[in-house]
Amino acid sequence: MHHFAFHKGSLCCEQQELSYLSERYGTPLYVYSAQTIRDNFQRLEAASAPLDHLICYAVKANSNLAVLNLFAKLGSGFDIVSGGELYRVLQAGGCAGRCTFAGIGKTQEEIDYALKESVHCFVVESEAELEIINRIAGKLGRRAPIALRINPDVEAGTHSYITTGKAHNKFGIDLGCAEEAYAYAASLPHLFIRGIQTHIGSQILDCRPFVEAVEKLSPLVVRLKECYGVESFSIGGGMGIVYQEALESGTPQWWEGADAKLLTPERYAAALLPLLSSLGVKILFEPGRSLVGNAGVLVTQVIQVKKKFTKRFVIVNAGMNDLIRPALYEAPHQVVPLKHSSHLAAGTADVVGPICESGDFFLQDTTLPNCQPGDYLALMSAGAYGAVMSSRYNSRPLAAEVMVDNSRSFLVREREKLSDLIRGEHTIDTPSNAPHLESG
Ligand code: LLP
Repeated sequence: MHHFAFHKGSLCCEQQELSYLSERYGTPLYVYSAQTIRDNFQRLEAASAPLDHLICYAVKANSNLAVLNLFAKLGSGFDIVSGGELYRVLQAGGCAGRCTFAGIGKTQEEIDYALKESVHCFVVESEAELEIINRIAGKLGRRAPIALRINPDVEAGTHSYITTGKAHNKFGIDLGCAEEAYAYAASLPHLFIRGIQTHIGSQILDCRPFVEAVEKLSPLVVRLKECYGVESFSIGGGMGIVYQEALESGTPQWWEGADAKLLTPERYAAALLPLLSSLGVKILFEPGRSLVGNAGVLVTQVIQVKKKFTKRFVIVNAGMNDLIRPALYEAPHQVVPLKHSSHLAAGTADVVGPICESGDFFLQDTTLPNCQPGDYLALMSAGAYGAVMSSRYNSRPLAAEVMVDNSRSFLVREREKLSDLIRGEHTIDTPSNAPHLESG
């Protein structure tokens, strides 16, 4: 469900034409729909209403201040993984007391910062980390709230790079060692046990792995509640979205029919509620992608169309530095011309960026109308793990980000300038020992 649709042959975000926004703010341009984010959040809220629960939005998916501020206003909690994410949440009006601090390698500075800000809990990944947090909390004269991340050894059926709940993955404490780890945590004087957490992976399109994880962990949750008064069980994030839905320019509602294939919040809740409601603890969710993925697109402009042997390369002004998911996971973001152009013959093309790597492509051998230089294309479903994973590779300034709310648009991240590329860099102050090439 989202608010990108064609009106009179022109792709719009809510009440704004994307081509107008592209002219106004330039490209590459991330555009987010505020109403889509609200709808996604409220839909999960409604589906989970029978449970005592808190949605902790996974900040890593999209940490733009405007996005975080929307979640703060919706009453969301936050799943954070760094001091930087905590800082962003606080700057955006979020509350530290609603933050769960996860991550496999928190630094001492980050732990110190999070303790001082009184986060809801630390999600701890090892006994060694329990000791570090205990020591720092002791120094500050505090008791740190903790949850242990337990790895249930479940196959999530997703890309191996984003599978996290298998025994061989680096994450969490093995289920078989969990009770020992809790006993150890209980013995440390500057900690108190607040919960248990798991997260099995991302872009999961089927309820089964979630059900399996909850079924495996439920007996442990019950015992931990009895022994240590555990109050919360976070079942992580991971709900997938549809990336490959046929999205044809001119289709008024390209989302039509997609729900049938999708892991909707209703389906997710229907599968899990019966298992979770009997546990008698607060349930935390950590969704990222499912709340913001379909709420964003990356608009790019065609620079050139190059024909080579039998291939047609549509070279655009966004690159793998702006959206790395296709290069990293071969993730297929749908490419859609902003203007309905069914009158132009469709052909096969590779949509590629300008970066000096063959992995710099968005789609290969895709069917696309005959684009001309200057045409705009939208890379759909780029709201999650898009801008946050971008880089300045090839010395390309970071793209601008705009948020649309109904008929208004807001520049929520300025496009970087060339001078931003060298901010904080210095040449060294030493006489040149390079041979002088000038003659005479
Ligand atoms: N909780 C924890 C502990 C996580 O590690 C993650 C994501 C989430 C929640 C949110 O998961 P989500 O609901 O978004 O699936 N860069 C990859 C995705 C990496 C996900 C990392 N962890 C991508 O672009 O597909």
